[in-house]
Amino acid sequence: MRDLSTYPMDPELLAIYDQEPFFCWLLEILQKSQNSTSENFQAKIVALEQWEYFKQSLLPKVNETGHVTDVVYWAYLRKLLIQVAALQEKTLDLGLNTSDSFHSYAELYDEIIGFPCLHEFMTGYIKFVVEKYKLDFSKASFLSIGCGTGIVEQHILRNYPIKKDQLLGIDISASMVIEANHRIPAKEMDFLALRAEDQQWDITYNGLNVLQYLPFRRLEEAIAKIGELTAKGGLFFGDFITSDHVRWYPHVMQAENVISLRQPVLVEKENYMFQQSEIINISKLDGTLRFTDEGKYLRYLPSMWKVRQLFERYFPAGVDFYDALSLECLPPDCESCPSTRYLVVARK
Ligand SMILES: C[S@@+](CC[C@H](N)C(=O)[O-])C[C@H]1O[C@@H](n2cnc3c(N)ncnc32)[C@H](O)[C@@H]1O
Repeated sequence: MRDLSTYPMDPELLAIYDQEPFFCWLLEILQKSQNSTSENFQAKIVALEQWEYFKQSLLPKVNETGHVTDVVYWAYLRKLLIQVAALQEKTLDLGLNTSDSFHSYAELYDEIIGFPCLHEFMTGYIKFVVEKYKLDFSKASFLSIGCGTGIVEQHILRNYPIKKDQLLGIDISASMVIEANHRIPAKEMDFLALRAEDQQWDITYNGLNVLQYLPFRRLEEAIAKIGELTAKGGLFFGDFITSDHVRWYPHVMQAENVISLRQPVLVEKENYMFQQSEIINISKLDGTLRFTDEGKYLRYLPSMWKVRQLFERYFPAGVDFYDALSLECLPPDCESCPSTRYLVVARK
């Protein structure tokens, strides 16, 4: 679906949506925003019944794969929500740290991404790697690169014979590390600054395509760094997205307290490919209705050939690729896989 939100919109075409209670409310808020004080704006925002109106408006236009079927509605909705999110941030002076790309998202992350992904495919591939590669967690040191909120590592602590002091999570986002520290030992830092001279790890791991968030020119440096940080005889495992991940990527992700709206587009820059996703979250986590424009998340889409070649360069004992969901072994010349996520297991 193309991103229509910046296209001029025909008011007559939009008039049908203006009748819906949720759109009436959004428009009223935007119109009154000129002279709104923080107090009366907040009173409107805490109107939690809007959550139900929002769902009644949106969900009939979403199909079973999470894709919106009405492009005009989608463009109009996103345009209004971006304005209301900006107004809410300004009026309520939420003091968000916008230099941290996961600033407000960290709080919502588990509900909308962390737990669903853990249950849908990460638990499965962890069990698979442990069994197939005979991982002995009882004596192993474990480094999680880009640990996020630490839910995957908490799952490992709860289900495998590894103790907290054998495990460390590293994340560059301060907000993610605050969440992670409730669960695991975690440090805020760029993993590229870790030094193998200080410590090597028996098992290194990254969950949910961490390496694809790095500046794309640093991919080889990142894989070389993971190679250095992994002890001889040790193993790395982690998942990646394929270059056609957009064919799976839903516009709408729903959880009990969060609805996440996502507009993905493929972007070419300097002859490299990226998936850019603009994310707006609507949440009622803290008992109020919050609209957050999370901005644009860019993920590098290197070819699977390139990723394989780089891992083979720094992990001489062997590299295997699997579909991250079905765990079917992927041949060396493949370009994608059915689930659009793949698991890399690399032995040093
Ligand atoms: C999609 S999240 C995945 C989080 C977590 N691994 C999970 O499975 O839920 C990607 C994470 O990578 C982190 N990250 C990105 N670049 C990093 C870097 N250079 N060093 C450490 N963490 C990084 C981000 O802050 C973010 O928390």
